[in-house]
Amino acid sequence: MFDIEYPIIQAALGGTEWDMVELTAEIADAGALGHVQHPVATSKRGAKEVINKISKGSWDDELIEELVERQHSIIDRVLDQTDGSFIVNVRVHERQVDAPDLIQALIHRASEDREFASQCKGILTSAGAPKYTKQIQEAGFLNLHTCALPIHAKKAVESGVDVVNVTGYEAGGHVSHQPVHTFPLVAGTTKMDLDTPITAGGGVFNGAQITGLLTMGVQAAYIGTRFLVSKESDYNQKAKEILADEKTGFEDTVIAPSLLSDARFYRTKGSIKLKKMKEKGATWSEIAKEEGKRFQILDDQGELQEAAIMAGQAIGGINDIKPVKKIINQLMKEGVNTYKKTANL
Ligand SMILES: Cc1cc2nc3c(=O)[nH]c(=O)nc-3n(C[C@H](O)[C@H](O)[C@H](O)COP(=O)(O)O)c2cc1C
Repeated sequence: MFDIEYPIIQAALGGTEWDMVELTAEIADAGALGHVQHPVATSKRGAKEVINKISKGSWDDELIEELVERQHSIIDRVLDQTDGSFIVNVRVHERQVDAPDLIQALIHRASEDREFASQCKGILTSAGAPKYTKQIQEAGFLNLHTCALPIHAKKAVESGVDVVNVTGYEAGGHVSHQPVHTFPLVAGTTKMDLDTPITAGGGVFNGAQITGLLTMGVQAAYIGTRFLVSKESDYNQKAKEILADEKTGFEDTVIAPSLLSDARFYRTKGSIKLKKMKEKGATWSEIAKEEGKRFQILDDQGELQEAAIMAGQAIGGINDIKPVKKIINQLMKEGVNTYKKTANL
């Protein structure tokens, strides 16, 4: 389906300053599936300005054009660096006004760029209902769709998606309002015999977990935080070091409100402030504005305790910042060893 060697998919890591070009290219090059992100900043405007505009609902054509341009400049650079396979993320939440334009631009590009059409295997839609499936499929792409509840996975399959991607509450970044964790989420989804491939993630940092997922009926593991904390990731270097620190534990994340829904962050004064704002009844747009400021602190290499740093519970199991090819080798080795131990029982 994806023309990959390993059952590993890079999760969407939508960014402000960072673009994850090196990371995506290395993952694709290693024989796993890379993932081009849906940007949150542009070459002309930083996170604070973009999120401020979004929080006021004041998207303008120029901003949308810049976001489309940024996504395609990421694709250009990924294509320059690898012949491997990747997918592209488009968040389709109702507040994500740029989604239709991003999808149109990808479809248009596939019609005239053969290299892109052959390496880009699909569009992963997330953070909303899968309403672009037909358009995406007619353009020759697969539509993968992210869900966080079994009931949503069933609905996505009924609306015709090609792959249903489930991510549990342990995950970094946006999570469901209903806290269903990866283990019951995966079992609850595979149990329905949906007759559509399932990929899954949320909390995956070692190969034993990948074997676990495959054994439960999943086709590939969907991994974000482990790759975020890698040599090629262009996330804030100091943030990567803190996330990889052996003193950082599984308990060091916090759920706080974010641009589209609740999200999981590394615990900082900044993310706790966002959480408290919600508890005190702040409006969505006040929270979004504050979040924009805190993303900007991360981008400007400011005081990390004041920043918003998205990361999943997997940080408790990550103690190094290695090259991606080494991470993938290790994941596969651990996965095979786990399988052999199981088979020997
Ligand atoms: C920094 C960061 C940015 C993210 N951005 C997006 C995004 O733009 N779109 C999306 O669908 N998911 C996004 N996610 C969620 C991931 O795609 C994925 O669900 C999650 O990383 C999987 O769990 P894990 O982090 O435990 O591996 C993001 C996660 C992180 C950590």
